[in-house]
Amino acid sequence: RVRAETYRPRLHFSPARNWINDPNGLIHHAGLWHLFFQYNPEGDVWGNMSWGHAVSSDLLHWQERPVAIPHDAQEMIFSGSVVYDEHNTSGLGTDGTPPLVAVYTSTLKDATGLQRQSLAYSTDAGETWTKYAGNPVLDIGSKEFRDPGVFWHEGSGRWVMAVALPIEHKIRFYASADLKSWEQLGDFGPTGATGGVWECPNLFPLGDRWVLLVSINPGGPAGGSATQYFTGTFDGRVFAADPGQGERWVDRGADCYAGITYNDAPGGRRVFVPWMNNWLYADRIPTSPWRGAMGFPRELSLRDGSLAQEPVPELTSLRTDPLLSLADTTVAEGTEELLADSGQFYELEAVLAPGSAATASFGIDVRAGGGQYTRIGYDTSAGELFIDRTASGAVDFDADFPGVHRAPVALPDGGLDLRILVDASSVEVYAAGGSVCLTDQIFPDPGARALRAHTSGGPMRITSLTAYGLKPVSV
Ligand code: FRU
Repeated sequence: RVRAETYRPRLHFSPARNWINDPNGLIHHAGLWHLFFQYNPEGDVWGNMSWGHAVSSDLLHWQERPVAIPHDAQEMIFSGSVVYDEHNTSGLGTDGTPPLVAVYTSTLKDATGLQRQSLAYSTDAGETWTKYAGNPVLDIGSKEFRDPGVFWHEGSGRWVMAVALPIEHKIRFYASADLKSWEQLGDFGPTGATGGVWECPNLFPLGDRWVLLVSINPGGPAGGSATQYFTGTFDGRVFAADPGQGERWVDRGADCYAGITYNDAPGGRRVFVPWMNNWLYADRIPTSPWRGAMGFPRELSLRDGSLAQEPVPELTSLRTDPLLSLADTTVAEGTEELLADSGQFYELEAVLAPGSAATASFGIDVRAGGGQYTRIGYDTSAGELFIDRTASGAVDFDADFPGVHRAPVALPDGGLDLRILVDASSVEVYAAGGSVCLTDQIFPDPGARALRAHTSGGPMRITSLTAYGLKPVSV
């Protein structure tokens, strides 16, 4: 089948046309997963920031809806969140029809460029939105004050907002009974990684801890944008980080930024969606007529005090027949084709191990052919998982794009378990039980479809490897 749109994701949300960045207002409501997002309705580079909108009943198939909150002459609509105000604390709905309330950053278009927090509300389950007449609800006279992450804090029976002071590397907390008047609580930071601005905070309970996500740009481990996290406690006023954390990253690939989690996900699930891009080159990636995509939704959990991630289990419902299934196979030094035509998108599960003490690096190449390949591997002396996208296809649109991105991870005794989602223009790698993730965009030729094994210094042992064909979620 010939694709009219080269690089169009088949497993990920991307808009029909134009620019997107951060996911905004993630909420599960009335049976639907809502995805709002930073959107330029008028172009394929950043600008005219508005909230676009898409909905899904399964986190897989997304239906794009009309622009939810458009920019206007006065303001752009920057990132923020949506809550379901079930008891109509805001008075913006009625008791019979409680509102969804969006809390977003108004970035003024006038010379002041002020950033203030504002509300919009919907009484038709998120389809249409009205700005609150009393906006803004929070104004500290700052040009760098954005991305309110709001949630209902059960313990104190109040709304809590985490909002970034990007240049100061601080997250400031506020509380409110009605979403309109906000009491300042404490600040968190600077700490952890501070090599760039702090943006898009998201605070939530996970297991027996609270987790605070803070996106940072630049200063990420793969260069440019990345998301760090902290674990700790939260009593409704103060987030206190667990001691001795150092820098901790959600994902050490180049393309996982501004990710936040769903409010009101059923069954206590904690579902995370990132923007699968990097401010280093976001406005130059070679896609048209859209630019930007979301990462595949991930289920978060805490294991031994650290974040563990896996693609949401809905993914397996897309599986068709295995394209390839191997067990207990040894591959000799070099590269070996395992599958000539994997298609442009699939899921791969494997357990791989060095076949000798001399094996220096081993793994698989995806989207290979015509001299192109994206190498996923394990470097035994460095103790690092890596993605090498230097030969992945179109790489020369920006000097910062080609590169090798690494994550330290101990080689598990039974070999390295990998779960990989390959799409027309991305690869997401979950390793060691999801304790390590690498997400990278790639732009291979549509015809680069081979799956290969690679190993150097000695053989590789393939304990198991299955490539699953998947039904595409978009055409
Ligand atoms: C993060 C960010 C946010 C801001 C938005 C503007 O990528 O810079 O801080 O609200 O993008 O589009």
